Amino acid sequence: MKWIENRMGQTPPADPKIVGRKEAGKARDFHRSIPSYAETPLAELSGLARTLGLGHIYVKDESYRFGINSFKGLGGAYAIGTYLAHRLGSDIRELPYETMISPEIRKQLGEITFVSTTDGNHGRGVAWTAQKLGQKCVIFMPKGSSPERLAHIRALGAEATITDLNYDDTIRMAAALAEKNGWVTVQDKDWEGYTDIPLWIMQGYAVMALECFEALEARKIKPTHVFLQAGVGSMAAAVTGLLADVYGADRPKVIIIESDQADCYYRTAAADDGSLHLVSGEMDTIMAGLACGEPTNLGWPILRDHTEGFISLEDPVTATGMRILAAPVPGDPRVISGESGAVGVGLCYHLMLDERYKDLRTALAMDADSAVLCFSTEGDTDRNNYRKIVWEGAWAKEAKEKKGKTIV
Ligand SMILES: Cc1ncc(COP(=O)(O)O)c(C=O)c1O
Repeated sequence: MKWIENRMGQTPPADPKIVGRKEAGKARDFHRSIPSYAETPLAELSGLARTLGLGHIYVKDESYRFGINSFKGLGGAYAIGTYLAHRLGSDIRELPYETMISPEIRKQLGEITFVSTTDGNHGRGVAWTAQKLGQKCVIFMPKGSSPERLAHIRALGAEATITDLNYDDTIRMAAALAEKNGWVTVQDKDWEGYTDIPLWIMQGYAVMALECFEALEARKIKPTHVFLQAGVGSMAAAVTGLLADVYGADRPKVIIIESDQADCYYRTAAADDGSLHLVSGEMDTIMAGLACGEPTNLGWPILRDHTEGFISLEDPVTATGMRILAAPVPGDPRVISGESGAVGVGLCYHLMLDERYKDLRTALAMDADSAVLCFSTEGDTDRNNYRKIVWEGAWAKEAKEKKGKTIV
């Protein structure tokens, strides 16, 4: 596990308002018009906090989101909704979900094909939205993607395939096909000339942070530490931006976590030379949602200017988190958390109980006065793998043998 303090922040810091309270509130108004929208639970793990020597641990449980087992639908649905509103010359505020799926609107819009690249969760959200709208959806998944996650997407009526390319190269292939076929790309990653939809996706994600902020405020709790896992970094930037907007200079310490196989933010902070350092090639990690080597350009200034630092870590840390959440301390609620969801809790466990991380724990001021917030961004989205890790402990053991390293 490697840590780098963020020394890149610029003055004045990037304005977080693009994903601030106002934009998140607007996105939530749209989400609220979707019948299956409900605020997801914020689990309080008091027993675990006591065990680790922390004041509080809160875990936002996104396995309950829209019945699709991850937070990702928040972004896909809002981005597609906003795109359609613009296409109709309207505003998302005038196009609630029921109107959007009506036969009249379907007729006005004609046939649209949405296309996206995904490790599973984002594509499931896009396919789910397209199905509700009665529109077509084409999904590409990078090499090594889970057959179970592919099946979930196909079950929503999308045409979905696994490519032999990594995530970032699959995005480029899908964008070229979209250009050729007149499809609408719904991607979390932005590039030159393609920024609207990635921004709307981030604004949709910010709703998850807004729900947390309000739930904690109602309990008169201000988080001191927030752990956010990053793939592209759109989710982390959305949550960081919302927190920076609502708490201002008094914001909690935000720590970004990446897989050591795709640690573009860690490398960028370590180099600290003003440019982004990408990761390419195969990214062999069980944290499929974090296997992205190219950061969001839109969210990057927020992460650069409003975070404490970056941690690059190995798979067994998240496996620990999955098991802790599956078998909680008596009295704590159980959280079913998948490979990309449990890493924050796994990290807290190691930070607090492993003496090798004493200095880092002290530097981050993590102690009995801390209120830690983690995001379990997915449930058991690959049930087979979930059981291998949680029931059999298989993956961590295999990983240890494969890499010839100790657990952390
Ligand atoms: C479950 C889960 N958590 C976290 C992430 C990371 O989100 P982002 O790519 O915006 O950094 C993903 C992305 O696919 C994911 O599926």
